[in-house]
Amino acid sequence: MADDWTTDDVQDLSGSTIVVTGANSGLGYEATRAFARKGGHVVMACRSVERGREAAGEIRDELPAASLSVHECDLADLDSVRAFAEEFEATYPSLHVLCNNAGVMAIPRAETEQGFERQFGVNHLGHFALTGLLLDRLIGTGGETRVVTHSSNVHERGEIDFDDLNSVERYDPWDAYAQSKLANLLFAYELDRRLRDAGLDVKSVACHPGYADTDLQRRGPEMRGSKPRLFAMKASNALFAQSAAVGALPLLYAATHPGIEGGQYVGPGGFRNLRGTPEVQRSSERSYDREDARRLWAVSEELTGVRYGFDRSLPGRVGRLAGRVTDGRPG
Ligand SMILES: NC(=O)c1ccc[n+]([C@@H]2O[C@H](COP(=O)([O-])OP(=O)(O)OC[C@H]3O[C@@H](n4cnc5c(N)ncnc54)[C@H](OP(=O)(O)O)[C@@H]3O)[C@@H](O)[C@H]2O)c1
Repeated sequence: MADDWTTDDVQDLSGSTIVVTGANSGLGYEATRAFARKGGHVVMACRSVERGREAAGEIRDELPAASLSVHECDLADLDSVRAFAEEFEATYPSLHVLCNNAGVMAIPRAETEQGFERQFGVNHLGHFALTGLLLDRLIGTGGETRVVTHSSNVHERGEIDFDDLNSVERYDPWDAYAQSKLANLLFAYELDRRLRDAGLDVKSVACHPGYADTDLQRRGPEMRGSKPRLFAMKASNALFAQSAAVGALPLLYAATHPGIEGGQYVGPGGFRNLRGTPEVQRSSERSYDREDARRLWAVSEELTGVRYGFDRSLPGRVGRLAGRVTDGRPG
């Protein structure tokens, strides 16, 4: 356990560029604040530029020197993800850390622009596409760079239903969330194996926050218009959750701690891994299943139209094929 590891322990990030998805709220907001306090430039990738600007303004009120920029990136729309990646490539010469943080939990069934079940689409497929499209920058930055993907304890009950990935036949909001969070881990570990096989200095790390008081828990009840559930969620958060600032520590640890290895999983080390300071943990056996990971990777490439390339021997720039969009549109 990293005893009493706090945001003060985040190393100096001057000169680093960090992308955080879902940076306007909850854990993404807290991580953005902490990165900025340590001198990193944070690219806040938000589905609402307005909410992103408001959040950036709040951080600047506290930290006037914070280096922040806000860009639209709606993970429920692969066109928006592509537009963000293109804008990023045109604007920023380097990318040191990509934080795949944004998420939705246990919402009523809805679909993304391209027709994917929304939790699978936003939490997994959107981040799969984004990472592939930014891989060229991660590889080309030089020195060690990282991809950090936010999962959840809920992944433990997850199963990947390859016959019904979009939960068309049967939809349970918690099963769909659990599937998406298991997908986050299968992706993070498979990415790390592929990066290592290619001899690249990019680490893929996974993390989870335990239980933290954020907006995540209220979205489902709000979308259902269920006041009793909303009340129950608020009461549970007030009684049992740790603060968003403490909940962001595993993400910050995974993103910046020099001792972290690719393929590791960081979470809070206190009561039932729901709270406390960050430590390296083991996720469920299922999350390490290589066959499922390869299968999910192949289907994610097919669904998003984003194919990863790791071949450094190709002519031209290192990783030239990384994040290549094959046909420009998902199948
Ligand atoms: N809080 C917990 O106890 C807990 C536990 C386990 C795992 N997690 C994970 O932690 C991560 C962060 O969640 P949080 O607790 O900080 O929740 P949050 O406060 O609700 O923040 C979620 C963020 O994701 C963004 N988002 C939602 N849909 C999006 C989309 N289509 N495109 C881009 N961004 C989108 C939200 O934007 P808007 O503000 O515009 O909606 C918001 O910025 C999630 O991956 C979640 O699964 C949280």
